[in-house]
Amino acid sequence: MRVVLVGYMASGKSSVGKLLASELGLDFIDLDAYIEERQQKSIKTIFSEKGEIYFRKLEHEMLSKVLDEHQNLMLSTGGGTPCYGNNMETILQKSNHSIYLQLSIPALVERIKNEKENRPLVKKLDDKDLPEFIGKHLFERRPYYAQAKHILECDGKDLETVVSEIKQKLL
Ligand code: S3P
Repeated sequence: MRVVLVGYMASGKSSVGKLLASELGLDFIDLDAYIEERQQKSIKTIFSEKGEIYFRKLEHEMLSKVLDEHQNLMLSTGGGTPCYGNNMETILQKSNHSIYLQLSIPALVERIKNEKENRPLVKKLDDKDLPEFIGKHLFERRPYYAQAKHILECDGKDLETVVSEIKQKLL
């Protein structure tokens, strides 16, 4: 079984993926961490040294590679992964389940406010500009996320609740 988590930055893809993988006995891969390990550089450094387009090409290649190489996989993607190239098509073709962890704009603003440092796309933004930035960004990205096989509303839910609700959808 291959399961892929998609959603905006800070929607919990990595922490949900890790817990879910251990409960379901699947290999866990976080695509950003995988790219960082292979490049021996942080995402932040890849963006600043080589630019976003270079990162998107790497992300595109690594997405197919990890899905091809693992039969039993829980994959957490980056917030932009499904929105470039034909990545969402790849996710749909190569996974049994894809899940969009959906959060409202205010919930994302609250989370991202405290987690900007390692996220190059929001790092330089003032907190007061986050709602407009995230609102516009989600307007462009939601059509990709929404193609996922399952959509899970995550506002106000803790990690354990999200994981158990996903398990109900998968089993
Ligand atoms: C990105 C999200 C990040 C990371 C990169 C770009 C995006 O992953 O892939 O900074 O375009 O939304 P997270 O969703 O884990 O923050």
